[in-house]
Amino acid sequence: MGIRTRFIIIMGLLSLLALVALGWASYKFSTRAAMQSAASKGEIIFNYLQAQRHFFRKNQTPLISELIEKDRFYPNLMSGFAATSTTFDYFNQKMPGFMIKYAADNPLKETNRADDFEDTILKQFRQDKQLKETSGTISKNGINFFYRAIPLKVDHPDCLQCHSDPAVAPKDQVVIYGTESGYNWQLNDTVASLVVYIPISEAIAQAKQNALFLLAIGAGCLIFALFIISIFLERGVVRPLIRLNNRTEEISLGKGLEQPVVVASNDEIGSLSRAIDRLRISVGRMLSRR
Ligand code: HEC
Repeated sequence: MGIRTRFIIIMGLLSLLALVALGWASYKFSTRAAMQSAASKGEIIFNYLQAQRHFFRKNQTPLISELIEKDRFYPNLMSGFAATSTTFDYFNQKMPGFMIKYAADNPLKETNRADDFEDTILKQFRQDKQLKETSGTISKNGINFFYRAIPLKVDHPDCLQCHSDPAVAPKDQVVIYGTESGYNWQLNDTVASLVVYIPISEAIAQAKQNALFLLAIGAGCLIFALFIISIFLERGVVRPLIRLNNRTEEISLGKGLEQPVVVASNDEIGSLSRAIDRLRISVGRMLSRR
């Protein structure tokens, strides 16, 4: 195998290796950045929801309970959970893809019922009372999400007015939600988990695309560089070496001794050509002495 082929193969393989490493690193960095961005979006949504519910409980509920009769119940006026969920529906009209859920295994509102994944989160919070939040990634119906969840506890005796016994709950509430589910909650029980889902499929696909784009550009540059190197090797190394090889063979046979061996370059090949030229002169002298 010629010098040029060997050199190109080794260079090609090494550069390919570097290129794959670069593509892989780009993919990893991009996905990590996507996850960090999802986490910070999640945190914003999360804190905003908490603030809205806080406002609801501290500022709104006392006034509403003064204004409304005991047995009347208007979900969006009287449940912080209903109010934040409805607000989130409007938010979704502007920014679709994000989801929140007050996931409970014994919910008043059926759409709040925890699915298998949310059930395991709920169990985790019940088992480990110190656990204040959990996060990670999950695929739902083929869409990937970053999720963040916190436990929701029955942290006030007031909650039990609506969530303990249907007999003491506001009559309207029983009419709207029935008596089957959402009752018999106990004080301090972890009854639900607020889970915020941030879509990441698009960002991950973008990360893949970035990595492939980088690979394609890198491969293009690599092929171009190898082509230029190949031309340089052909002109600067292979051809002069073949010429020197032919001349040396001629000299060894005592032919063409009068023609100087000239390769006009200042590198190793130039110096080899000067050495061969000195050899040509010496062989010429030795032959003329005989
Ligand atoms: C005035 C009655 C009332 C009070 C008081 C009340 N809730 Fe609720 N709660 C509801 C209703 C009604 C829903 C269903 C809201 C909807 O339609 O989204 C609900 C929903 C929830 C949910 C979502 C899961 C589900 O059951 O659908 C959680 C969690 C929850 N409440 C916890 C609490 C906690 C904790 C307190 C006390 C701080 C509390 N609630 C106080 C009536 C009440």
